[in-house]
Amino acid sequence: MEISFDRLRGFGEGALAVGVLDGGKLTDPAASVDDATGGVVSRALAAGRFRGQTGHSLELLVPAGIKPTRVVLLGLGKAEDFTTAAAERLAASLVGRLSVGGEETLTIAIERPKKAPLSEAELAAHIALGAKLRSYRFDHYRSVREEERPTLKRVVISTSEAAEARKLWAGLAAVGAGIFLARDLVNEPANILYPDEFARRTRELEKLGVTVEILDVPAMKKLGMNALLGVGQGSAHPSRLVVMQWDGRRGRNRNGAGPLAFIGKGVCFDSGGLSLKPANSMTGMKGDMAGAAAVAGLMHALAARKARSHVVGLVGLVENMPDGNAQRPNDIVKTMSGQTIEILNTDAEGRLVLADVLWYAQSRFKPRFMVDLATLTGAIVVALGAEHAGLFSNDDELAKNIVRAGAREGEPVWRLPLGDAYDQLVKSKIADMKNIGGPHAGSITAAQILQRFVNKVPWAHLDIAGVAWQDGEQKPQIPSWGTGWGVRTLNRLVAEYSE
Ligand code: BES
Ligand code: MN
Ligand code: ZN
Repeated sequence: MEISFDRLRGFGEGALAVGVLDGGKLTDPAASVDDATGGVVSRALAAGRFRGQTGHSLELLVPAGIKPTRVVLLGLGKAEDFTTAAAERLAASLVGRLSVGGEETLTIAIERPKKAPLSEAELAAHIALGAKLRSYRFDHYRSVREEERPTLKRVVISTSEAAEARKLWAGLAAVGAGIFLARDLVNEPANILYPDEFARRTRELEKLGVTVEILDVPAMKKLGMNALLGVGQGSAHPSRLVVMQWDGRRGRNRNGAGPLAFIGKGVCFDSGGLSLKPANSMTGMKGDMAGAAAVAGLMHALAARKARSHVVGLVGLVENMPDGNAQRPNDIVKTMSGQTIEILNTDAEGRLVLADVLWYAQSRFKPRFMVDLATLTGAIVVALGAEHAGLFSNDDELAKNIVRAGAREGEPVWRLPLGDAYDQLVKSKIADMKNIGGPHAGSITAAQILQRFVNKVPWAHLDIAGVAWQDGEQKPQIPSWGTGWGVRTLNRLVAEYSE
């Protein structure tokens, strides 16, 4: 789908969307349609219940007197509530309803409501982002019936600030592309996307200027990453560690502080291992690499928009399978850090992978901070559902900035506590720690284990088990199972820290 910005002159062909404010007040474009059609818009408003409420809309087919084949009246709600997020949702819903309806061109002419908390150019660019995010499809594994095939090819956004909107859109389009990559990776089944295939897909980022290193099993053995390797040892697919680097500083500040580091859990399939999951809990576990997908998506976004920052992305890629060679309950593994872990449940594998990747990240890069993303615990889904990701951090400033970035990007996060009393719950009699706590506070004890591997670097952990994919109701901007959660928030965090 092609997206462009232009100032509307007269009415084009195809579908035209115009805004109506809460209470039924017409925006200028809506008023011009009304004039050109001899009052069709006013009559439609008078005849029905549509009054421009948020999320409501009304479609007028082939209004006489003007070129468009249909006009959609969009409820903008109250001007002061019309945020970038509202603009995205509106455009996403609109593209959703028109994409297979037969039209090839959609013109969106929403004048910025006075008092709206965004500029005209921001409005246009976020309309574009909403349209783009909704246009995502993951349908290459099924035959698509003729009537499901999208007809919509072009979205033209009418704006008086087209040049400025195009500039903003260049940045947002890069983020959109990163989100698409993350969604693709999460949606791919595990027979296609195993560790080495994931690694190959990150190689594609080299075209954008990202440096990609792939560590294989012998390389990780040499580094002593036995916790990560133990998780993957029951799989027919060998484990990988991918290190991605984007340096867009162009000579500035090269000797200054270390890079920002992002670390992703990349369990391409989590069967639970010998502590096998029951059948119903196992479905969906192709998505257990969503943290790694978000990191790859972030690297894509940063490189595509040529972010002026130095960022490293590390993803630990494994498959957790039962097998004659699989890790057993009661095994003890020595991590790269030297600390030992007693495995009591092979299904608590994400923390084992992250233990080695976090340690490696801080020792090699001396980062300003590390943020890890992981579909780590079912307990976080119990606590927060699909509304918030869980946040844990050893640094109040970093935590505050992540909470704010998430709120701004429509990816809310909620901070949960860490502390010595929780840390006690992962003590082992026979090793430095065990890989599970007791029956309570499962998301926190998991985070306590991670914290033992961050070596006091400012660090935050996002448990995204509830938000990485959607099994329930679909959001208008997210038309697939994999959500691509995190790319937006991390992209904003990078921008705020280093640009
Ligand atoms: N990948 C799962 C966590 C998960 C559960 C993600 C549901 C998404 C939806 C993780 O590896 C896991 O199995 N965690 C266990 C830990 C337990 C054995 C201590 C869990 O949450 O049950
Ligand atoms: Mn597991
Ligand atoms: Zn897992």
